[in-house]
Amino acid sequence: MENVVAIDGPGGAGKSTIARLLAQKLNYLHLDTGAMYRAVTLAALRENIDFNQQEKLIELARKIDISFDQKGEIFLDGENVSEEIRKAEVNKHVSQTAAVKGVRDVLVKKQQQLARNNKVVMDGRDITTVVLPEADHKFFLTASLEERARRRYQEVRSKNKDADFEKIKESIARRDKMDSEREHSPLKKAEDAVLVDTTNLSIDEVLAKMIEIIEGEVQ
Ligand code: DC
Repeated sequence: MENVVAIDGPGGAGKSTIARLLAQKLNYLHLDTGAMYRAVTLAALRENIDFNQQEKLIELARKIDISFDQKGEIFLDGENVSEEIRKAEVNKHVSQTAAVKGVRDVLVKKQQQLARNNKVVMDGRDITTVVLPEADHKFFLTASLEERARRRYQEVRSKNKDADFEKIKESIARRDKMDSEREHSPLKKAEDAVLVDTTNLSIDEVLAKMIEIIEGEVQ
């Protein structure tokens, strides 16, 4: 599958930042699939849906319209929700939404369709394994839990918001566990994905490394 870069990895590994910058460099569309699971979660919160009611979540995922613009901003039924999907209440429930097979089926179909119609850098948890296993370029980005928590902590602090490092670390560890141990499409490295450990690398270094690999694969 040409013109497709697929990136997986745990939360806080830098996937979204790297995917966005890589997409800018290549002039591809950036599709953050985590944002899609977040959009369904936000819609469920707005409709007061109980997260144990899987059928309701699936029905909702089918009903709502999720779209991206060229800048990678995400829209829920036409409304830009890029900020709102990052709030704590969404963080708290999104792994539950992402564990529901029917919700995944709806979103995976949409992701595959978007990759057929656009040049894309797509990041998530199951992109290299389930959504686009035929992608030309596949990466697994990771970093130590400590480093991922430190990055999230700094991100929150940079917005002048209060943050508790230990709480952030716990929350990331909890989501790691749910994402890797769930029954449907758990997070795991595809055998043929290139592993990039970003723990001791700057954003520019990660980007340079990935571009070098992509260019090598194209020749
Ligand atoms: O990357 P993120 O934190 O925005 O992801 C939000 C949640 O969605 C997280 O629990 C993992 C899940 N997810 C998934 O199951 N599959 C994807 N392709 C992307 C995200």
